[in-house]
Amino acid sequence: MILVLDFGSQYTQLIARRVREEKVYCEIHPGVAPLKSFPEIKILKGIILSGSYGSVYSKDSVWPDSKIWGIGVPILGICYGMQLIAEYFGGEVTPSRCREFGIVNVDIDCKCHLFDGLGFKETLWMSHGDKLSKLPKDFRITAKSENSPYAAIDSEARNIYGVQFHPEVKHSVNGRKILQNFIFKICGSKRDWTMRSYIVDEIKKIQERIGESKVLCALSGGVDSYVAAIMLNRAIGKRLLCVYVDHGFQKFGETKRIREIFCKEFGENLIVVDAKKIFLSKLKGIIDPEKKRKIIGHTFIEVFNKEARKFKDINFLLQGTIYPDVIESISVKGSKVAIKSHHNVAGLPRKMKMKLIEPLKFLFKDEVRALGRELKISEEIINRQPFPGPGLAVRVLGYVTEEKLNILKVADNIVTEEIKKAKLYEKIWQSFAVILPIRTVGVMGDARTYEYVIAIRAVNSEDAMTADWVKLPYEVLSRISSRVTNEVKGVNRVVYDISNKPPSTIEWE
Ligand code: XMP
Repeated sequence: MILVLDFGSQYTQLIARRVREEKVYCEIHPGVAPLKSFPEIKILKGIILSGSYGSVYSKDSVWPDSKIWGIGVPILGICYGMQLIAEYFGGEVTPSRCREFGIVNVDIDCKCHLFDGLGFKETLWMSHGDKLSKLPKDFRITAKSENSPYAAIDSEARNIYGVQFHPEVKHSVNGRKILQNFIFKICGSKRDWTMRSYIVDEIKKIQERIGESKVLCALSGGVDSYVAAIMLNRAIGKRLLCVYVDHGFQKFGETKRIREIFCKEFGENLIVVDAKKIFLSKLKGIIDPEKKRKIIGHTFIEVFNKEARKFKDINFLLQGTIYPDVIESISVKGSKVAIKSHHNVAGLPRKMKMKLIEPLKFLFKDEVRALGRELKISEEIINRQPFPGPGLAVRVLGYVTEEKLNILKVADNIVTEEIKKAKLYEKIWQSFAVILPIRTVGVMGDARTYEYVIAIRAVNSEDAMTADWVKLPYEVLSRISSRVTNEVKGVNRVVYDISNKPPSTIEWE
């Protein structure tokens, strides 16, 4: 295993991704994590120190446990990571007069194993305001650029390597080769991490942990909870009980679809709770988006709890948490401002005194999909676009009423049908309809109408942190518009949302 210590760089996840693309298992731990929390030395093959937004010479700089330098495991420092190495071993880091952002030509000293197979000149990507101004003792320079006389350094005796540039970024032409050299030539890792091996290992771990107990699962219909449930099903069979809470904010025909698909897998062990009335009544008179989200979250817990109390001797709760959620919560000094309270089942275990089972905790979204394929889950489920926990309630702007919900469901279904017909569904991160809390004047069959407006949203994204609006073909927009105004009673206008995230968010509420 390769361990990435996170000092807050925006590329930390990318480093882990790149390592896993080489079929080598990799985890991200906080930069300040104590050595005793690291994986066992016998499986730890190498450590990568990430970049950071900070400076190593600042008062509040973040440092790794000082014991890491002496454990004999190869270390690669990237950007801030290299500066940490330099400062620790007696070098010096200072603010750079000429900062380097973007593609830079770097002269390589090919005697360093990190650069085996590379040319003398390489195009690499930099993003730094500080630079090394003095070489640490017993280190040598292994690469230079016009503005970085110490663009890379190493001490082969200590097995420690540092690079100012970012090999993990695609713009670094031979960046992959550099990471491969570190992972395989220097650390001696093997390409043995595959989804198949992950399934075998996880199932074994789950069986050992759960013993003869039962596990409860809140199925949402989304990819993550489904893949997690199938994993558990493979591990413990009928001792997994699935509860699906129908809050009424699902897409058109969803509950029926879920019953059909899920019953095949879970049979009698799937319980569908019809809670539509409770959710609607709790949201009555509520306009504020945050209040809506909180009410839905609490009501979900209430309903789920009530159902769970009917089962005896359940000690575990299954959750489809995936790696980006985990990383967000461990990031170094992430003073993240709450933009939206995301609704999930996180409040459940605390209230129910259950232990958590999170078999996808170390997987990225596309790895969850790959795992799903390995588990022979149908492409229809695997390729589903993400859907928010509070569902259509955050797409019915303003008061949530049955009338508006029904209009939205039909309009949204038309959007999905047309996007699928145009073979765009799997190419787009998310595409959906929103109903606005206003009515506008229109004319239909010579008569005046005063009806709702539907907004269409389609975005592309890699991780939902940022998103670009999709330039949908005019013909697709045109078909959606005419179908919605013709087929959905109560709508006389369709608009297209052309906002990116930021400044907008993907969901309107
Ligand atoms: P925003 O609107 O914050 O959405 O740009 C980012 C991504 O998260 C989804 N989303 C949610 N997912 N529970 C979820 O599980 C939620 O409460 C929730 N709110 C938004 C949204 O659909 C998008 O993919």
